[in-house]
Amino acid sequence: MVAVAILAAGRGTRMKSDLPKVLHLLAGRSLVERVLDSCSLLDIEKQIVIVGYQGEKVRQALSHREGVEFVEQTEQLGTGHAVQQLMPYLQGYQGDLLVLNGDAPLLRPETLQQLVEVHQTKQNAATLLTANLPNPQGYGRVFCHQDNIVSHIIEDRDCNTAQKQNRRVNAGIYCFNWQKLAESLPKLSTNNDQQEYYLTEVVDYLSPVMANDSDDYRETNGINDRQQLSAAYDVLQARIKDDWMKAGVTMVNPDSITIDENVQLEPDVILEPQTHLRGTTTIATGSRIGPGSLIENSQIGTNVTVLYSVVTDSEVAANTRIGPYSHLRGSVKLGESCRVGNFVEIKKTIVGSNTNVAHLSYLGDATLGDRVNVGAGTITANYDGKKKHPTTIKKGTKTGSNSVLVAPVTLGENVTVAAGSVVTKNVEDNALVIARSQQKEIPDWHRHHDDE
Ligand code: UD1
Ligand code: CA
Repeated sequence: MVAVAILAAGRGTRMKSDLPKVLHLLAGRSLVERVLDSCSLLDIEKQIVIVGYQGEKVRQALSHREGVEFVEQTEQLGTGHAVQQLMPYLQGYQGDLLVLNGDAPLLRPETLQQLVEVHQTKQNAATLLTANLPNPQGYGRVFCHQDNIVSHIIEDRDCNTAQKQNRRVNAGIYCFNWQKLAESLPKLSTNNDQQEYYLTEVVDYLSPVMANDSDDYRETNGINDRQQLSAAYDVLQARIKDDWMKAGVTMVNPDSITIDENVQLEPDVILEPQTHLRGTTTIATGSRIGPGSLIENSQIGTNVTVLYSVVTDSEVAANTRIGPYSHLRGSVKLGESCRVGNFVEIKKTIVGSNTNVAHLSYLGDATLGDRVNVGAGTITANYDGKKKHPTTIKKGTKTGSNSVLVAPVTLGENVTVAAGSVVTKNVEDNALVIARSQQKEIPDWHRHHDDE
């Protein structure tokens, strides 16, 4: 068991933003929420977020999360001052306290689990997460007596040139024996470049304090400015893509691909360049997505291809081919072995199996059966300026090129629609419908200028 406190009261001046830093979004989720989520493997008895700058906004942003309590730091006098605010709150608490900077959104739950485990088995007064950074600039440097026993932490701005050479940094993640921490907190001074109360100063009063290196230094990245925010997105993406490649997904030019965290992929999916998978998308085995496709909140079956197309909120069954240049949106359901081709838009439509919509069509609010062939340029005129109306096309029906189906309208089974028809009335099964003016031919026609 452990209590968790997240430091989220700072403004984040270097972000140059009206929004408190911890509410900035990283791939759709705020920094502070990501920090909370990184605690998911811990056995938590209390979860506290310390708020201050625009605290009301931070509280609101986290209001949907159960069990989160808030403590106010009215003036932001430093990370040590922030933790001092817990003293009345945790009075008499006997356990350990995990303190996390609210701007460290890349921590893996396993890392925190391990940190707490080391802390508790060694019975340290404090155990900190550290990392050896290729470029440690901006971070507090951690100095050790021997092995991993920490003597002190010096902030970057308080380091002399020699001290700056130390690449071992403080990640801003600490596990404390609360009773011992509570005895040390009143001793903090403001004897530093920023004249703030630094939490890092407590290591001078506690013993033993142990440093625990993370095996992936990138997960300890703190976000202080917009560049670090965008670099964090890249780290997150690299992690997601590496995991999927390990799980059997092929990616061609992965740097050009983005994948949201909640996407699910099966082995032998192939992702081509410039493919973006968002939201709750799932893609089944054997499917090839891209180049140049965006799929959002959609379920793609096995052996589907999606080429230069956009698919949102839709379901696509096995062996169907989409694109190039198709757009599916607003809950489309495509059956098996269909083909949706060039410049086709489909909205809120259910399509059976083995049906083709190969060229230049718009289908909206429609229901199509199996083995329908939608001719090039067929349009459902589903909107009368006020309301949307449904179109039904039953199995085996073929529409000729450039047909307009004026909804509400139903074409029966095995209907043939002549090219260029404007169909306004329902058509019976097996009929041929021709709804266009007949071709007239006026023989021996002289154009005026021919007479001159
Ligand atoms: C801090 C550490 C540094 C470490 C780095 C890791 C200190 C003194 N320094 O520096 O050793 O390498 O994190 O990223 O702790 N906050 C408050 N109240 C305050 C001040 C800050 O709640 O009065 C919160 C901020 O919202 C932020 C976190 O504490 O989430 C860290 O503050 P920040 O100013 O970013 O600390 P760093 O200078 O990055
Ligand atoms: Ca920081």
